[in-house]
Amino acid sequence: MELSQIYAPVNDDLKKVEQALLEVSRVDFPWLSELLKHSLGAGGKRIRPALTLMCGQFYNYRFENLLHMAVAIELMHTATLVHDDAIDKSDTRRGRATIYKLWGVDPAVLLGDYLFAKAGVESTLTNSLRAVRLFSGTLMIISSGELNQAKNSYNLHQTRQDYLNRIYGKTSSLFCLSTESGGILSQAPDRSVRLLRDYGYNLGMAFQIVDDILDFVGTEAELGKPAGSDLKQGTLTLPAMLLLERFPNDNPVFRLFNDHSRTENIPVAIEQIRNSSIVEECYKLAKEYCAAACQKIQNLPDKSVKTSLCELAEFVVKRRK
Ligand code: IPE
Ligand code: IPE
Ligand code: MG
Ligand code: MG
Repeated sequence: MELSQIYAPVNDDLKKVEQALLEVSRVDFPWLSELLKHSLGAGGKRIRPALTLMCGQFYNYRFENLLHMAVAIELMHTATLVHDDAIDKSDTRRGRATIYKLWGVDPAVLLGDYLFAKAGVESTLTNSLRAVRLFSGTLMIISSGELNQAKNSYNLHQTRQDYLNRIYGKTSSLFCLSTESGGILSQAPDRSVRLLRDYGYNLGMAFQIVDDILDFVGTEAELGKPAGSDLKQGTLTLPAMLLLERFPNDNPVFRLFNDHSRTENIPVAIEQIRNSSIVEECYKLAKEYCAAACQKIQNLPDKSVKTSLCELAEFVVKRRK
């Protein structure tokens, strides 16, 4: 199923999100405008703003407020990507060269800061202190997740729980914000806000697990960003963790992590993972999270958007980009 079909209940409103993002590039400093257009105008799946709008449809759909939050969240997401690409030294994103690749680290840091600040301003336009507090708190969680990843690069002694904690921080927390804020801004009762958040949590966990699988089995042409980059950064994700568990004695991940210069082990690890049942096992976990996500919202009011949210959970597992 195509994303545009899944987004059907909010497609028209997502166009307004797109317009608002375009507006952000309208500043009278031409270079800044170029950087903003480059990072915001390249598409992207727009899953997070779609979630905010869709989750706002169960109760009192107050579009103005939801729109500001949806835009704020996509701006924050884009800022994290601009920074992440500089940290990961990634050359491509959304099928084009990254800010880091074209202009270097300094503009990437500063553009990211600009986007974060703009996102903050946008979030205040919701007039909900509760939503703004959640918004800022989420950025703290994301940053600490990314710091955790940096601190643990090339660390072989990480448990599955460490991995799950980290992907909650760096990715799933933003999904939680997207869904929970949709509930808050549409005056959903507290119990429903919690269910929406739980949906976002599970969807976000599945999303990052699949991202980590695609880093091993996808291609740059499909993904619009480099494949095979996690091991290159020394980032231990679930597929590599399972490979270590399966072959504890002689293992390409072990050799690479013990001596970072032995990069010949990266393609070996990728091949071993591709040719084993590890990929399937990781997908199994992602599917469990998606099933849990869909389960969480079953008791919410029967709106067409409920079906869309479950379809989105299916999409997250099937996606190739
Ligand atoms: C990329 O997110 C960053 C991760 C959390 C893996 P998306 O895959 O949603 O990126 P875009 O917005 O569609 O480019
Ligand atoms: C991205 O994680 C998380 C954030 C941007 C905070 P990844 O490093 O796996 O994302 P990609 O693969 O570069 O999109
Ligand atoms: Mg990255
Ligand atoms: Mg990745």
